[in-house]
Amino acid sequence: MGHKTTPLFSLLSVLVLLHQPSQISDSPSSSSSSSDNTFIHCLLNHTLHSHPINSAIFTPNNASFSSVLQAYIRNLRFNNSYTRKPNLILTPLHVSHVQAAVICGQKHNLQMKIRSGGHDYEGVSYTSSEPFFILDMFNLRSIDVDIETETASVQTGVTLGEVFYRIAEKSKIHGFPAGVCPTVGVGGHISGAGYGNMMRRYGVSADNIVDAEIVDVHGRLLDRKSMGEDLFWAITGGGGASFGVVISYKLKLVRVPEVVTVFQVARTLEQNATDILYKWQHFAPSTDNDLFIRVIIEVVNATQNGEKKTVRITFIALFLGDSKRLLSLMNQDFPELGLKKSDCIETSWLRSVLFWDNIVITAPLEILLNRVPQSLRYLKRKSDYVKEPISKEGFERIWKKMIELRDTAMYFNPYGGRMAEIPATAIPFPHRAGYLWKIQYHANWNEEGKEVADYYIEQLRKLHKFMTPYVSKNPRAAYLNYKDLDLGITNHNGKNCYQEGRVYGVMYFKANFHRLVQIKTKVDPHNYFRNEQSIPTL
Ligand SMILES: Cc1cc2nc3c(=O)[nH]c(=O)nc-3n(C[C@H](O)[C@H](O)[C@H](O)COP(=O)(O)OP(=O)(O)OC[C@H]3O[C@@H](n4cnc5c(N)ncnc54)[C@H](O)[C@@H]3O)c2cc1C
Ligand SMILES: *[C@@H]1O[C@H](CO)[C@@H](O)[C@H](O)[C@H]1NC(C)=O
Ligand SMILES: *[C@@H]1O[C@H](CO)[C@@H](O)[C@H](O)[C@H]1NC(C)=O
Ligand SMILES: *[C@@H]1O[C@H](CO)[C@@H](O)[C@H](O)[C@H]1NC(C)=O
Ligand SMILES: *[C@@H]1O[C@H](CO)[C@@H](O)[C@H](O)[C@H]1NC(C)=O
Ligand SMILES: *[C@@H]1O[C@H](CO)[C@@H](O)[C@H](O)[C@H]1NC(C)=O
Repeated sequence: MGHKTTPLFSLLSVLVLLHQPSQISDSPSSSSSSSDNTFIHCLLNHTLHSHPINSAIFTPNNASFSSVLQAYIRNLRFNNSYTRKPNLILTPLHVSHVQAAVICGQKHNLQMKIRSGGHDYEGVSYTSSEPFFILDMFNLRSIDVDIETETASVQTGVTLGEVFYRIAEKSKIHGFPAGVCPTVGVGGHISGAGYGNMMRRYGVSADNIVDAEIVDVHGRLLDRKSMGEDLFWAITGGGGASFGVVISYKLKLVRVPEVVTVFQVARTLEQNATDILYKWQHFAPSTDNDLFIRVIIEVVNATQNGEKKTVRITFIALFLGDSKRLLSLMNQDFPELGLKKSDCIETSWLRSVLFWDNIVITAPLEILLNRVPQSLRYLKRKSDYVKEPISKEGFERIWKKMIELRDTAMYFNPYGGRMAEIPATAIPFPHRAGYLWKIQYHANWNEEGKEVADYYIEQLRKLHKFMTPYVSKNPRAAYLNYKDLDLGITNHNGKNCYQEGRVYGVMYFKANFHRLVQIKTKVDPHNYFRNEQSIPTL
């Protein structure tokens, strides 16, 4: 641990000499170069006697700046010249770099955006409307799996695929309940609850956390004991970014059978899809906790020339057991789907992750360690919750609307099982007993341009509006990890807007919002850890 004064000071002189208005000339951030230099001075000074930080600092002058910025943009909607760029990207190599960033960011009044996997649907982890820097966590990614205690300590720069792979490497009968997309980051996913196809058996990811490390607003590194139960509660579902920088989580592993079964079958309206879905909504949220059947609803061509459209409903399942038990369950309680033995694939839990991510099930498992998704798209998502069954006539009206809109899709994820048993106040995520399923509204497209984006976003808003009579109300519930800035944003230029924050806050957290506000007010009274939809202070 040397005092690398020579590289430090050469970095500084390079900055001072070479700092020109940034190439991204339409970015208002390019005018603040002198304050950025004092910010860098502060970072260097605060890490002088610990781990050298200079190789973790990327200014807009650095040739790698754009590629570092783009490396974890997971929604192409924010990969363009008109989105404001950060003044600087810091890629901590050590916890002391995070501590320096928190201290210096406040001292120099520069907003911090924390990015782990970069999957935020609204790009909130790497965009802003005020001058900001990105604290990019991708270098902090140790994983320590301990089968004896059935736990795993994972730093927040880790992806879900890496977590799953490293657990399975040590044990064939352990897993962790988390999202179905392997490139999603631990930092955003778990701090925002995180659900996947074992949710009906084990709850959400944040229900299975036993410890955490956080750097708080004073730059202190705290664990569960030293942060206290309030702050620990807040960062297991309330979103980490309102409270501090989460460094790691300690996961409670869960048991999985050596053989699980997956299937995917699709039915169009012509194949009685509406009747089958009507039965699904009574069956899926109340069946055996080992069974999770997601539904994907899309508009597809009914005829070769595409003149006539129809709706296709795809049923995709994970069953924590073998196909024999699954088939007897399905034949008894959900014969309408007509599931056959040949539809079922028995495999390991780890390979079921490939199946759910549309990867060939026999592919090398190392694919799960790939941090770059197979493809990137332009995205918009919204969410809703259904508490009352929808009638067949209701579904038919919805199909008519979707066919009219054409470019939208919906995912239904059944609740019930363990989800209905966990009290709504156990963690900030409040959507428990009484919920039948969650809807994710889905628009993907492939073309650059603001008009194109506006078109697709508007289609999705229309569908969301049309669904009003069928979904939860007062409040209309939503899921934080399906971040949707249509639900309101705070005017966050250093200001605190309680009223705006209350609107989305109550949709995401219901009554738990008030406890989150109290904790926020206590741990970060000056609202340094803020973003478009953070928890406001009182
Ligand atoms: C392709 C895709 C598939 C998805 N599938 C699922 C799914 O199956 N289940 C599900 O529940 N969700 C799913 N999501 C949503 C996903 O869980 C959220 O977007 C999640 O917040 C992403 O975490 P991240 O670290 O990748 O994102 P980031 O964009 O890095 O972060 C998201 C938010 O968390 C904050 N944050 C990140 N790291 C930290 C940290 N270390 N400390 C404090 N705050 C932090 C960020 O500032 C930001 O506000 C999916 C998203 C995508 C794009
Ligand atoms: C450097 O940090 C020390 C404390 O670690 C502080 O006393 C000193 O003022 C700082 N110097 C500058 C130039 O910021
Ligand atoms: C850019 O940053 C990298 C890593 O910090 C460093 O090695 C490189 O010298 C920097 N390049 C410039 C032009 O500053
Ligand atoms: C993001 O934009 C840059 C600059 O236009 C481009 O070079 C890059 O390919 C884009 N990334 C993706 C994944 O399309
Ligand atoms: C649809 O349902 C009708 C009546 O219940 C039945 O006769 C028909 O065979 C079903 N069609 C398909 C494709 O399953
Ligand atoms: C569906 O039809 C449209 C024309 O309306 C055509 O452009 C498209 O390629 C067709 N899609 C498929 C999957 O066949």
